[in-house]
Amino acid sequence: MHDDTPLTGRPVISSTGLYTPEESISNAELVASFNAYVERFNAAHAAEIEAGEVAALQPSSVEFIEKASGIKSRHVMAKEPILDPEIMAPRWRERSNEEISILAEIGVAAARDALARAGRDAAQVDAVLCAASNMQRAYPAMAIEIQQALGIDGFGFDMNVACSSATFGIQTAADYIRAGHARSVLVVSPEITSGHLNWRDRDSHFIFGDVATAVLVEDAAIAPAQHWDIIGTKLKTVFSNNIRNNFGFLNRATPETEGTPDKLFVQEGRKVFKEVVPMVAQMIVDEAARLGIEPHSLRRLWLHQANAGMNRLISHRVLGHEASEDESPTVLDTYGNTSSAGSIIAFHQHSADLAAGDTGLICSFGAGYSAGTVFVRKVA
Ligand code: COA
Repeated sequence: MHDDTPLTGRPVISSTGLYTPEESISNAELVASFNAYVERFNAAHAAEIEAGEVAALQPSSVEFIEKASGIKSRHVMAKEPILDPEIMAPRWRERSNEEISILAEIGVAAARDALARAGRDAAQVDAVLCAASNMQRAYPAMAIEIQQALGIDGFGFDMNVACSSATFGIQTAADYIRAGHARSVLVVSPEITSGHLNWRDRDSHFIFGDVATAVLVEDAAIAPAQHWDIIGTKLKTVFSNNIRNNFGFLNRATPETEGTPDKLFVQEGRKVFKEVVPMVAQMIVDEAARLGIEPHSLRRLWLHQANAGMNRLISHRVLGHEASEDESPTVLDTYGNTSSAGSIIAFHQHSADLAAGDTGLICSFGAGYSAGTVFVRKVA
């Protein structure tokens, strides 16, 4: 329909979409399950603990979780097995190759939401990027499965930059628009992070939640009247072992490695906090200067949602004062850390009230280390 429209090569965000799982786990439910596991473990190993051969496990606490992270609950795709002290992991029926996979299914739901909000027919989309921290399988790509489910004639591929996957996806999509290789690109981030979380690890069992988001990046020429100009994007990576997951196709579980925690998410939370805050704050200030934007003038920051304290410090450094909830909204309290989807949920839920001409920033950071900034300005 828009095939003859002369293109501008200017990328915009036409819309975003969100899929939120129905089930959620409160901190109280989570801690009750974890502490039941601790009691059972300590009882089962009482003799070894007594002999000093095994360290007794310590209970978790609701107060600690909320104070250290700002998280009050998280949505999940499979509540019951996660809370079962004998399982403490998500479980679902294995699907046949003829059925849509669970990651693609929630990605499609978020994508359909974004398409509907933009009034866009899937047949008019050129490409799908599935940008997320964990893929269902090695191949075929999740993006191609999502493309097929939506009926898109074009191309798709998966990309994983951990918590920064969505912003890296947005820049990639924007570059396709800038180069004229595509007019309409869906960046889909299905994050079933409950699968990579070690629910038996006291230091991190409270961190993550499940969700899917989608961002429709298009050429300004075909965008709906209400959209966001992408003023500038910037990506950065710096190698670090402080957030790591060794799961991979070269270390399939053997009887010796079965259940080893390094095949799940592990982190040095304190180091991450200390190293990532200054790196990201500096990156935002530098990029704002390059784009001729006064950081203090930014109307809103939609930051990665990993830890309320990190976001407080980063926004303070960028805005020059303690940010209000209006200036730097959080969705951590109800969603937890949803990896790459976090800043997109914040943008999705807290952007409609901004006025035409307002400038804001979508910013992600996480494993790699990786960080991405997307400066946007509201049009209409
Ligand atoms: N319940 C009760 N106490 C706990 C606990 C739990 N679930 N987990 C840890 N503690 C205790 C620790 O044993 C420690 O006790 P000690 O002082 O007696 O040694 C104390 O609480 C502080 O632990 P620490 O791990 O240093 O907490 P923290 O304040 O650094 O908060 C994080 C932990 C993970 C919330 C925080 O470091 C963080 O969010 N970092 C950044 C994470 C991040 O962004 N990661 C990116 C992932 S994408």
